[in-house]
Amino acid sequence: MATKYDKAIASELIQQFGARPEMLVQVLHAFVKRYGFISKEAIRQIAAELNLSRAEVHGVVSFYHDFRTEAPGEHILKICQAESCQAMGSRELTSHAESTLGVAMHGTTSDGNVTLEPVYCLGNCACSPAVMVDDKVYGRVDTEKLDGLINECGG
Ligand code: FES
Repeated sequence: MATKYDKAIASELIQQFGARPEMLVQVLHAFVKRYGFISKEAIRQIAAELNLSRAEVHGVVSFYHDFRTEAPGEHILKICQAESCQAMGSRELTSHAESTLGVAMHGTTSDGNVTLEPVYCLGNCACSPAVMVDDKVYGRVDTEKLDGLINECGG
């Protein structure tokens, strides 16, 4: 799961965009792709190599929900919060997931197994409410189906 942080590789990720400060968002995406999140160590190194302050990098990281600052769980469960899914009960589904997993949105279970996240349309509106587990989308998910998906995650 988690890839060990390596300064030389991190530097390559930064340098591939020419170490240009205006490429910060692309650099951050590259870090998330490789490490799953942006660690404090990464923020320090990115700031130093892009000649930005840590506060500037941190500001961008916290602006986008995609840029996690904590290691994600083994599985990522996303519940669609967009209009069609909301009309079909995604709020209730979210409450159910939060109480079943014992975490709020953006949280990770204490065993590190599941991270719960919102998503805004999975392109599966005809089968609302929709959820995504890792890379797989499921439609017409009720609490029972959600429990089954959570169990499959081993949670
Ligand atoms: S609104 Fe949920 S999949 Fe489109």
